[in-house]
Amino acid sequence: MTRFYITTPIYYVNDVPHLGHAYCTVNADAIARWHRLIGDDTLFLTGTDEHGAKVAEAAEEHGVTPREWTDRTSARFSEAWEGLNVSNDDFVRTTETRHYDTVRDFLQKIYDNGFIKKDTYRGLYCVSCEDYYTPDDLNDGMCPVHGRGVVEMEEDNYFFQLSAFQDRLIEWYEKNPDAIRPASKRNEALSFIKGGLKDVSITRTSLSWGVPVPWDDAHVFYVWYDALINYLTALGYGEDPENVATWWPHVHHLIGKEIIRFHCVWWPAMCMAAGVEPPANIFVHGWLLVGGQKLSKSMVDDQGGPVKLTQITPASLTEDFGVDAIRYHLLRNTPLGTDGEFSIEGLTERYNSDLANNLGNLVARVATVVASKCGGTAPAPDPQSPLVAAAAQAVTSASDAWQRFAPHEALEATWRLIGAANAELENTEPWKAEPGTVDDVLGSALEVVRIVALLIAPAMPATSLEIWHRLGLSGSPEDERLPGAADWGNSLAGHDVIKGDPLFPRRKTTP
Ligand code: MSP
Repeated sequence: MTRFYITTPIYYVNDVPHLGHAYCTVNADAIARWHRLIGDDTLFLTGTDEHGAKVAEAAEEHGVTPREWTDRTSARFSEAWEGLNVSNDDFVRTTETRHYDTVRDFLQKIYDNGFIKKDTYRGLYCVSCEDYYTPDDLNDGMCPVHGRGVVEMEEDNYFFQLSAFQDRLIEWYEKNPDAIRPASKRNEALSFIKGGLKDVSITRTSLSWGVPVPWDDAHVFYVWYDALINYLTALGYGEDPENVATWWPHVHHLIGKEIIRFHCVWWPAMCMAAGVEPPANIFVHGWLLVGGQKLSKSMVDDQGGPVKLTQITPASLTEDFGVDAIRYHLLRNTPLGTDGEFSIEGLTERYNSDLANNLGNLVARVATVVASKCGGTAPAPDPQSPLVAAAAQAVTSASDAWQRFAPHEALEATWRLIGAANAELENTEPWKAEPGTVDDVLGSALEVVRIVALLIAPAMPATSLEIWHRLGLSGSPEDERLPGAADWGNSLAGHDVIKGDPLFPRRKTTP
C-alpha cells in the first residue's frame, strides 16, 4: 500500500484566513484528493498555530483572553476550509492537550540527548515574524519581511544547538537531493546551512502564552519551536510509535517561501536531535500577490502606516464565483513554486475562457445534441476515435504533473483534452447531422466528458460529481480509481444523459 501524508503550515490565528492561506490549503487539498483517487492511503493535515507574542497581542487588542481569541479565530479557519470544500483528515490546534503532550515528549528527548543548553540571548525581534534578526538582515532598520520596526530583546533562554547539525544537514540534503523542491529552494536552504548555523533560542520568559518547558516552569517554548512539532502531533508521537512509523516516512510538507529556514534547517535538525528521521519531502511555493504585494495585513508602508490591501477573504470570492471556480483559479493560475498575481479581472477572464467557454460548453453541447439526436440516451463511444489517444495522453500527463506537485500542468493537460473534444465536435458538426448517423462522435464526446470528470475531481470535486450525475452514472468519481477508471471504455452506453443548467454561466468582464 502506498502512503501519502501531506501537510500545510499551521496558520497563525492573529488574523482571519485570506486568499494567500487558501492558495496553500487548496493546493494541498487537490494533491491529497489526487492521491486518494489513485488509491494511496492518504493523510492530509492542516491546523492553526496559536501561541506566541503575535497571537497574544491580537487577543489583547480585542480585549479577550488568548484562549478566547484562538478559539474564535481557529474556528474561522476551519469554516473557511469547509467553505472551500477542503478534505483535511485532521486539524491540529497547538493549544490542544495532544499537542502539549507531543511537544513535551519530543523536546524532553532533545534535552535528554544533550542538545538544549541555557544561555543569555540578545537580539532584534520582529513580532510579526516571531523571529530574531541580526542588524545586517534588516532593510533600513526594518524587518525584511514585514517592513515593520523590530525590538531589542534580551532574555535568559534555553538554546537548541543547531550549530551541531550543520554537517549532518549538508550530508542529508546531499544524500536526498529531492528532499526540498523546487531545486532553487533546495540551493537556498543549502547555502544558508553552508553559511554557518548559530544556536537558536527556543524558550521565552517574557511571555506566558506558550507550551510550558517540562524541565523549567519559568519558561514557555518559543512559538516556532512548538509549531513545527504539530506534524508529529497528528501522528500521535509519544503515544503511538507505530502510527508515526507508518506515516512519517511519507510526509510532504507544503510551505510558503518565507518559512524555508524553519522547515528546511531547524525542523530537520530538531528531528535529528530527537532521533527522528528528517522530513523526506518539502515543497516550497511562492506568494499570491495583489498589485505586486503579498497578501498580508501586517505589511506597513514607507510611513509606517498600514498598507491598504484588498481584504480578500475566500468566502467573499466563493459567494460570487462559486467554490470550484475559485479552487480552479488558485490551482491553475499560479504554478506551485513561483509568485503569481491575483486579480478579479484575471479570475473573471479565466472563468469565462476555461470554465464557461471550454468545460461548461463541452458538457452542455454534448448533452444537448445527445438529447436532440439520440433521444437523450448515451450512444457507445468509438474505439477508433481520434479522441482515444488525446484522452490517454491527458491521463498520463495529468498523473505525472500531480505527482510532481504541478496542479497547473495537470489542469492544462485536462483542458487540452477538453479543447480536443470541442474541436472534434466543431469539425463533425453532429448537431447538423441526421439522427442515428453521429452516434460514434457523440458517444466518444461523452466518454471524454466522463474522463474529464475524473481528471478534474481533485480540483473541482462538486463540478466533477455534478457531471458524473448528468452522465447518468451513480456513485461518485471519488469512488473510482485511476488510471484504470479513465481507460477508454463503454460504461456510458444506454445511460440517460441529463441536460441541466449551464455549469458556469458566462460572466461580464469587469469594465
Ligand atoms: N504559523 C506559521 C507556520 C508554522 S508551520 C509549523 C506561519 N503562519 S502564517 O499564517 O503566517 O503563514 C502560513 C502560510 O501561509 C505560509 O506558508 C505562507 O507562505 C502562506 N501565505 C501567507 N500569505 C501568502 C500569500 N499571499 N500567498 C501565498 N501564501 C502565503 O508562517
